[in-house]
Amino acid sequence: MSDTDKRMDHTGEGEQQMKMNPAEDNSNILDRALELGIAKCLRDADRLPAFPHVTKDGDWLLSEHARWTGGFFVGMLWLAGALRVDPAILKTARSWAMRLAPRAMDCSTHDMGFLFEPSCVRGHNIQADEQLRSLAISAGRSLASRFVPKGKYIPAWDPSEGQEYLALAIVDTVMNLPIVCWAANETGDNRMHESAVQTAATIREQHIRPDGATYHVVDHDPETGEVTHRGTHQGAHDDSCWTRGQAWTLYGFTRMGVILESEQMMATGRKTADYFLAQLGEKTIPPWDFDRNDANEPVDSAAGAIAATGLIELGRRTGEEDYTQAGERMVHGLIDTCIDFDHPDKPGLLMHGTVDYPRRSGVDESIMYGDHYFMEALVKLRRPELWDILGCC
Ligand code: GLY
Repeated sequence: MSDTDKRMDHTGEGEQQMKMNPAEDNSNILDRALELGIAKCLRDADRLPAFPHVTKDGDWLLSEHARWTGGFFVGMLWLAGALRVDPAILKTARSWAMRLAPRAMDCSTHDMGFLFEPSCVRGHNIQADEQLRSLAISAGRSLASRFVPKGKYIPAWDPSEGQEYLALAIVDTVMNLPIVCWAANETGDNRMHESAVQTAATIREQHIRPDGATYHVVDHDPETGEVTHRGTHQGAHDDSCWTRGQAWTLYGFTRMGVILESEQMMATGRKTADYFLAQLGEKTIPPWDFDRNDANEPVDSAAGAIAATGLIELGRRTGEEDYTQAGERMVHGLIDTCIDFDHPDKPGLLMHGTVDYPRRSGVDESIMYGDHYFMEALVKLRRPELWDILGCC
């Protein structure tokens, strides 16, 4: 063999070695994505005067009120602090968490888990922080106060935003129930716990179709609590399946299954996950609605990220590896198509999210919850020892 042949042979071996070790390549790309997420949220914590919500015209739209998404930004900062084991980052995370304090008594929305679980429960899990614990308990109480005994549901929004919201429930609420269970457990308040249990049971009964798809909204008669309409708010039409609602559902029921040690809730997590995966097929990023599956329709990377972390959770809790693998496949798909490693200073981590396509709001943008749940999925895959700090279970 000539020297040149040897060199070629050596190069060939190297290539073969790389090909023989795809797991290492896969891990590297996940680590790179995680590092990018850390760098971006730290940069944003330094430069932004208020909570980032969704990108528009190349930068974040901001809100001091924090809308329903401020907790996700804080949650990313806690993850960054835990991953880097850096007290300065944890201090930054805490100061952002404390900016949510005025919202803890907000009884006008179902979003209290979204706001206070990644921010205050996670912060308390990391550093046993009494003030954060107390805010999270208040948030759980505020949400439980919305429970309507006649009908056993929690209305999502406030009638001050529109009378049509008076008795309107949305499936996303299942993701907000863990903080109610957590607060009930912290305080020994059994009534609060029951309100979460009954709300989850109602969502299961009223929003889940026989095939595992979900109705985004269910309206009720405010006098009797009876169902008056099933349909959608952000989906394509009343009988379609809005992908982000389906993602919240599969993750939310999985978590409620764990918290309540309920096989029935876990079965709903599985059933809605199976529907999601069957509709997704070979794709890795879901369309914004499963009834709008054509190539020219916008995708929703945020739904993809929520489903991916939910599937990884489901896989861990049930021991069914197929769910973990499906979630991991989606994470890689998100990295391939929605992460721009070449422009680390660009605001937003995960591109191609869709907030609300029917209203043409936030289409093809980065969205705070997409970034947060994508980073959460990466942590579960690469740093599973941090699983226990993530939230209420
Ligand atoms: N309501 C939460 C969402 O838009 O996903």
